[in-house]
Amino acid sequence: MALKSGGRGLVVVGGQWGDEGKGRIVDTLSAQSFATVRFQGGNNAGHSLHFDNKSLVLHLIPCGIVRNKQLAIIANGVVIDPEVLLAEMAELKRHNIACSPLNLKISRHAHIILPFHKAIDSQRESEAKNKLGTTKRGIGPCYEYKVARLGLRAEDLLVRSRLVHKLESISQEAMLDQCLAWGDQLGPYLVDSGELIDDLLGQGHQVLFEGAQGALLDIDHGSYPYVTSSNCVAAQAAIGSGIGPGWLKEVLMVSKAYSTRVGEGPFLTELDLASQEIFRKQGNEFGATTGRPRRCGWLDLPALKYAARINGATGLVITKFDILAGLGPIKVATAYRSASGKTISFAEAMINSPETIEIVYQEFEPVAYMPKINHLADMPQSMCQMIELIEKELALPIKMISFGKERGQEIFLSQLTT
Ligand code: IMP
Ligand code: MG
Repeated sequence: MALKSGGRGLVVVGGQWGDEGKGRIVDTLSAQSFATVRFQGGNNAGHSLHFDNKSLVLHLIPCGIVRNKQLAIIANGVVIDPEVLLAEMAELKRHNIACSPLNLKISRHAHIILPFHKAIDSQRESEAKNKLGTTKRGIGPCYEYKVARLGLRAEDLLVRSRLVHKLESISQEAMLDQCLAWGDQLGPYLVDSGELIDDLLGQGHQVLFEGAQGALLDIDHGSYPYVTSSNCVAAQAAIGSGIGPGWLKEVLMVSKAYSTRVGEGPFLTELDLASQEIFRKQGNEFGATTGRPRRCGWLDLPALKYAARINGATGLVITKFDILAGLGPIKVATAYRSASGKTISFAEAMINSPETIEIVYQEFEPVAYMPKINHLADMPQSMCQMIELIEKELALPIKMISFGKERGQEIFLSQLTT
């Protein structure tokens, strides 16, 4: 077989617990890409976009859909709630954004979230002993059925006999007519995502892979059991879309200039409640999916270093620098120490009780306000020092920074790999 060359996969993933600002970065990068692909998670994600005086939150459809001439692909690794997908498609049309089988493609193999998956998720969350702080969107139970080999895939919605057989074993509810109706509506969008994406890459196109959640919520590598139900690290872009890993040429890992987390689980640099309140107000740190207040804290470099390793990051993107302005001294965690004074890694820290861990911080001068930034030289000095520290500690280049939610409030610091 002839080797194909030319095309490249550019992966954008979260380096924290989600909500790093991946949506706005994907929005910027999608301008130069042919297609944008979602490869894991479902409508637990919420990617906020701000452009032309519009605000739009997408939960399932890749952010690239808002750019003309872009293909948006929901690949096999995603779990789809058809009601949410159809509502999102209608919402895009209301915003005059094209959304038809010409520019939106859905993998035949993506799994379908049914109402009973959501009911299981909510039921578990209602019991204190099981509470993880999930989004109650049925994501976990849908992946459980997938792995149990009982799941319903998008293509099953098209074949009545297969549906009858599958639904018999999993759903107590009368879902057949509803599933057939979904099949009618979604059928024209279904494709083999792997074949499509491999062809695009083979033709020399750039394909952007839009991660959801973040490395520290990864089912294998995150702070288990306080994690989501899919792999969120960059390697999943290959598995979750049906292409070979060799196509993934660049992995951009996104982090905020501070940290947030929604739901339960350890968070070593979390601030006291009063300080969190200030961050939350200034940074609008409320979940884009559930509206829950996000927990806020300082940037955590040992955690970010761990995330960069498991993602195989080739570059970093740091977002929301503007939120640090007007807050007083800025802190960044540089190391963890055990009670005996020994430096410990993020992975070790996760299995110790948080009270026994001392966090070492580096402090930076406060920034009174955020000036207009056109070049790195316009950045306040202490933020430049912060950038230097992150690059040094992670031994990775910061390729892009953002300092506002609107399009254009970002600068590239170095070239992406070509
Ligand atoms: P699930 O993904 O709904 O099962 O929730 C599991 C954990 O992941 C909870 O702590 C959620 O708050 C968190 N989570 C899931 N999706 C996102 C996201 O897109 N951003 C931030 N946290 C998320
Ligand atoms: Mg989000």
